[in-house]
Amino acid sequence: MQAHIVFDPSRWTLQLLDQRRLPWEETWVECRTVADVVAAIRPMVVRGAPAIGVAAAYGCALACREVSAHASWRTAVEALLADLAQARPTAVNLSWAVGRVAARIAKAPDPAAAALAALDEARAIHDEDVAMCRAMGRLGAALLPQKGTVLTHCNAGALATGGYGTALGVIRAAREMGKDIRVLADETRPLWQGARLTAYELARDGIPVEVICEGAAASMMARGEVDAVIVGADRIAANGDTANKIGTLGLAVLARHFGVPFYVAAPHSTFDLSIASGAHIPIEERAAEEVTHPCGSRLAPEGVGARNPAFDVTPAELISAIITERAVLQPPTAATIAQVLGGRV
Ligand code: MRU
Repeated sequence: MQAHIVFDPSRWTLQLLDQRRLPWEETWVECRTVADVVAAIRPMVVRGAPAIGVAAAYGCALACREVSAHASWRTAVEALLADLAQARPTAVNLSWAVGRVAARIAKAPDPAAAALAALDEARAIHDEDVAMCRAMGRLGAALLPQKGTVLTHCNAGALATGGYGTALGVIRAAREMGKDIRVLADETRPLWQGARLTAYELARDGIPVEVICEGAAASMMARGEVDAVIVGADRIAANGDTANKIGTLGLAVLARHFGVPFYVAAPHSTFDLSIASGAHIPIEERAAEEVTHPCGSRLAPEGVGARNPAFDVTPAELISAIITERAVLQPPTAATIAQVLGGRV
């Protein structure tokens, strides 16, 4: 996969590959201001928890560049960053990245110095994210069989991260190790991240992938056609309860029923150790039109509404292991999480 989040220092702009348009066309959205970044994150030009964090980190650099060097420039930057941190509620990587850049610029003497420091920190966050994906990939690949089929949901690939991917990073690493892994991509309604994005990036890399209807997962497992399920995460509570794309919980229940291992791959930036359990994870509710108008065309009758929770929470007890860049937490419990991630940054 080519880079999809690119900062151009000569023009001081952030270029984002527009994921709403994939796989039909590869168009880019240019962000000149932090408001442009917020306006890209909300409708999902850029999406996937780690990728949102990376884009937001660059957005912090744009914010510093926007304010002029008056006495209250710091307050003005803080207000912009607060807005950015709330662009989407569930992916904790967003507020984590904004908080990390904010800490970096805390001692900057003026906005120009803050902008340079913020850009430096954003680049570090971006590079580290790719490195964490690769480390997760190496650790997680050992869990997969020499030959088999892995089911994944949504897109937790290069497009959802700084590059390489979390769940898809594990699959990529397994293939790089010579394992014969095939992928079933759950279509992932209502925005089709599996059918559009996972299929797009795996096909481009020559990794065998087939799209399945979400309703097909149970029968594929019942027929013994799934050796493992691997997904990403948007926020993991201190006890291992995991928020991910709506539909993940159903897969975890099915996997337990059919005896299929269910893995979550996520970097330390996706853990929210300030909350004891998944009950405290804020769940984004998105517009009803995403459900009633798939790909922009009305499907439901006029006047009929819809519910559109974008994420669900899978209890830790349904998760066979959480793969982080530091260790495989198997099983994930408050104790194993605290041990590996307690003093995390
Ligand atoms: O609404 P999205 O497309 O941003 O949701 C993305 C997911 O749920 C991903 O699985 C998650 O962010 C992990 S991405 C490595």
